[in-house]
Amino acid sequence: MKILVIGSGGREHALVWKLAQSPRVAQVFCAPGNAGTAQIATNLPIPIHDHDALVQFARAEGIALTVVGPDDALAAGIVDCFERAGLKIFGPTQSAARLESSKVFAKEFMQRHGIPTAASGHFSDSAAAHRFCQTNRYPLVIKADGLALGKGVIIAQTAEESAQAIHDIMEERQFGAAGNQVVIEEFLTGQECSVHALVDGAHYLLFPAAQDHKQIFDGDQGPNTGGMGTFSPPAKLVTPEMMERIHREVMEPFMAGLKKDGLRFRGLLFPGVMVTAEGPKLLEFNCRFGDPETQVLLPRLKSDLVDLLEATVDGTLDAVRPEWDPRAAVCVILASGGYPGAYAKGKPITGIDEAGALPGVTVFHAGTARVEGTLVTAGGRVLGVTALGDDLCAAQARAYEAVAKIHFEGATFRRDIGAKGL
Ligand code: AMP
Ligand code: GLY
Repeated sequence: MKILVIGSGGREHALVWKLAQSPRVAQVFCAPGNAGTAQIATNLPIPIHDHDALVQFARAEGIALTVVGPDDALAAGIVDCFERAGLKIFGPTQSAARLESSKVFAKEFMQRHGIPTAASGHFSDSAAAHRFCQTNRYPLVIKADGLALGKGVIIAQTAEESAQAIHDIMEERQFGAAGNQVVIEEFLTGQECSVHALVDGAHYLLFPAAQDHKQIFDGDQGPNTGGMGTFSPPAKLVTPEMMERIHREVMEPFMAGLKKDGLRFRGLLFPGVMVTAEGPKLLEFNCRFGDPETQVLLPRLKSDLVDLLEATVDGTLDAVRPEWDPRAAVCVILASGGYPGAYAKGKPITGIDEAGALPGVTVFHAGTARVEGTLVTAGGRVLGVTALGDDLCAAQARAYEAVAKIHFEGATFRRDIGAKGL
């Protein structure tokens, strides 16, 4: 069969890498892809928002399954378009993807169905938002309602900071239409874990947990990024008891909520969970694979990913039992100097083959391109270096051994990925 993957990041390279290993798959296409996907798939110069062109390609080429990577494609209704054309596609519809694309919709869903989350209010009027802050204790978390590339969440320590955040989001429209409403919520203390579950509408299947590192600098300092590195499993944070609570307190009420609301969700649900002293509390729903969570989860998956994704789309998840590699995985992101702010592109990259030759190491490309035969940087997050090891310590050592072999001008990475789990 032929498969089409939509997107161009490290997550998509990992998806293409895993799908291409399936004996059932003859060819993988990636739109638009990066220099890494180009080595194992056929990249297509079709932008992800050109749904008509993607549908036309899938029809003409006889694509048996399309897999959507990024949240904005889901929010724009790419799944609805493919389904209208009678094409099989993995991901939630536009209406179900509101669980990620609207924080107000997600918060109301959590509250309606008893999923533990931070106490909050939401406002479409900035004066009411300002008043709410005056009657609540700091720190407060201010969130723009829509997708804002992970930047629409501000943790305000003082009244001045919350006033500024509300002004920037609602009055200055720093995040555009995402500022029509804000959610303001209590600050939760704890460590975050990333949960991935395949959901076919009636059943769900949990992956092992992962832990991300959102801030740019070691020790969780500096501004938030898309994610600077991951490891799996986070055995200290997500104990078997905590996993059991995530089943009972997050996933089961989620599935019951879908049914009660008549919401059809098929795809990957990735709840961001804060592990607090009181138990798991939901920070947000993501409706797609995490990046760079995928880069540690798929190398640990021993089963055929095509079977799992197909079962999700077909509603037969209860019939599949994936097998997982018990080894640990660590992924270290190499980013361009300056990221998550402004950064230069076009810096030549060397050492990937040497790094990838180490046992258990896979180098996933994110912002890379090939220009006149030379591999160069082309984005903020450039590479994700994943290593498997017998335990977390071994995986971490191997990942950093591989990172040391890769060079490009300005390369920036955290030196403490995995340290939380040791
Ligand atoms: P979100 O997009 O809602 O997950 O928020 C982005 C990031 O902001 C999260 O990954 C957390 O690190 C942080 N965050 C969001 N909500 C809270 C909260 N209520 N308390 C503490 N940190 C939060
Ligand atoms: N790494 C976090 C995310 O994909 O949202």
